[in-house]
Amino acid sequence: MQIGVGLVGVGGIGRHLGWQLRPLSEARLVGVYDADSALAQRAATELETNVYPSLSAMLNDPAVEAVILATPPHTHYRLGLRILQRGKHLFCEKPMALTVEHCDALIQAAQQAKRILMVGHVLRLFPLFWQSKQWLQEGVVGEPVAVHVQRRGYDIRLFGEGWRADPAKSGGFLVEMNVHELDYLRWLLGDYEVVAAQGVQPLLKPRYVQHWQALLRFHTGAIGVIEASIMDTLGGYFVRIVGTEGTLEHTGFSGTIRYKRVDGEEKSLTPEEIGTPEPFMWELRSFVRAIAYGETPLYDGYDGRMAVANALAVQQLIEQNLVAQSRSRKRRSKASTRLNSSGNL
Ligand SMILES: NC(=O)c1ccc[n+]([C@@H]2O[C@H](COP(=O)([O-])OP(=O)(O)OC[C@H]3O[C@@H](n4cnc5c(N)ncnc54)[C@H](O)[C@@H]3O)[C@@H](O)[C@H]2O)c1
Repeated sequence: MQIGVGLVGVGGIGRHLGWQLRPLSEARLVGVYDADSALAQRAATELETNVYPSLSAMLNDPAVEAVILATPPHTHYRLGLRILQRGKHLFCEKPMALTVEHCDALIQAAQQAKRILMVGHVLRLFPLFWQSKQWLQEGVVGEPVAVHVQRRGYDIRLFGEGWRADPAKSGGFLVEMNVHELDYLRWLLGDYEVVAAQGVQPLLKPRYVQHWQALLRFHTGAIGVIEASIMDTLGGYFVRIVGTEGTLEHTGFSGTIRYKRVDGEEKSLTPEEIGTPEPFMWELRSFVRAIAYGETPLYDGYDGRMAVANALAVQQLIEQNLVAQSRSRKRRSKASTRLNSSGNL
């Protein structure tokens, strides 16, 4: 069975998704649409498919059974709702939406229309991330008790331009990018509460927090630390999970994953040795197979919703801390002005 798929948004990730869909025997790319018509035409030529002049034209085409939505975050709710309400299955890029209410409305629309809703939490499928979950399930570290994730890079230019620079469109890098890590942690160890969070915004652009940290407490009792930065020039990715019987660590998109058990057993693997499929192709295959054969998708709308909810919980605590810090700075500066003017130095 071949599912007819339309692709909306053919920027950076949209084109990549188009390329990854093409080899799948379960899917056929029926056409693309982008608000930038020249870009849409170029992508259609490259991907050897049709171009639609509007989203309505795509949604009116009965050959389109499912839509991949790869537009900026602030458009996901409005466009996603239209797609689902027209009875099409939806693969929505992350972040699912910019508010929890909008995520819930998308989930409800999918349920009402009885359509598949998948949100692109592809980080889980990169080899070292995937392997970490397999090893945890095999119990190589026993019961996980503490986890630490760091994602750091110097991405000021990327986040200082276009829709990513505008918090009303992207949600800030914490919502736009780190929903990946917040989803990964929930997938690894289950639900958690955000206990504390703080962030800094020392640079003029982009106009949101540029480096942040949060403390998490999982419902299992495990504890977690997550830290992310778009201003760390050395960069790096790091995940470490300490368990009752050993410790596991990996280095993100490249490098190695390894563990050492209390009984002395050690193992290390590279992405090549793990040998999982190309992550974006893998998630799209899961999407179309869920439609065609009723398989359970690798992740769904609820996962997307929880990632957004957790990112917003972190953001709220960061903002509260920033307000409190700014008030106490003002109080300190007023106190020192009073001291200076009374000549008491
Ligand atoms: N899963 C991942 O690893 C991953 C990686 C990168 C981006 N993303 C996500 O994918 C989405 C797109 O990111 P990108 O980097 O490809 O952005 P981009 O700016 O490169 O591309 C977005 C495209 O959407 C089009 N567009 C904007 N508004 C539209 C509308 N109303 N209707 C139709 N087209 C519209 C733009 O013209 C542009 O071509 C974002 O949500 C981003 O967070 C996910």
